[in-house]
Amino acid sequence: MKYFIANWKMNGSQESLELYCKHILDNDKFDSSKFILSVPAILTSTAYHILNKTDISLSAQCVSEHNHGAHTGQLSADMFSNFGCSYALVGHSERRKFESIESTCNQVKQCLTNNLKPIVCIGETLDEKQSSRTKDVLLAQLKPILDMIDEPSDVWIAYEPRWAIGSGLTPGNKEINMITHWVKELIDTKLIYGGSVNPDNIKTLTECDVDGFLVGGASLDHNSTNQMVNICTHYS
Ligand code: PGA
Repeated sequence: MKYFIANWKMNGSQESLELYCKHILDNDKFDSSKFILSVPAILTSTAYHILNKTDISLSAQCVSEHNHGAHTGQLSADMFSNFGCSYALVGHSERRKFESIESTCNQVKQCLTNNLKPIVCIGETLDEKQSSRTKDVLLAQLKPILDMIDEPSDVWIAYEPRWAIGSGLTPGNKEINMITHWVKELIDTKLIYGGSVNPDNIKTLTECDVDGFLVGGASLDHNSTNQMVNICTHYS
């Protein structure tokens, strides 16, 4: 089965999370070890208590670049690890807007020292794509990460074109494959695609050479999540 990473962003409540988990756990058609749930930090504890006896993994949506200390409002990789998270999104485009590459690298470091697998998001804007700068932009995001890791598999990479996120638009499969094959030559690790994945297009997208999907808006609803994971089940 392809990995399915549900990124709830800043959505959800205790009630909606409980209902969601109930419906996901009722679905016995998929391999729950390939399901990763990324809820807002404040729901991590609830998610952990519901899911800790299942194979579903939890991911932080972001971690502090610091270890601990006087950083009001921030949460450390160690804290997420302590609450049962095994993954963390790093460099999501909704955060790169105000985070530097240096901060992204520090977050990766924090994840690696605290048993969280960083899922590093990379992606180009529409303007960068239209001016044929996609690879340059992706390389600028990737290179500092490649320079700091020991093993390629230390991190996962999520290719998320910024223009595809929340827009209803996706690249064609050829385009996704072209990018992911190129990334794979730079780093041989799990490659995830994200950006407007939904129940209508996921079947076509499963034909791409990717290990899974990072899904935002369409992962909020348990019915559409179950539809998507059931489709992912048939592809590796
Ligand atoms: P989307 O978001 O599926 O709503 O486009 C994906 C993401 O931002 O991770």
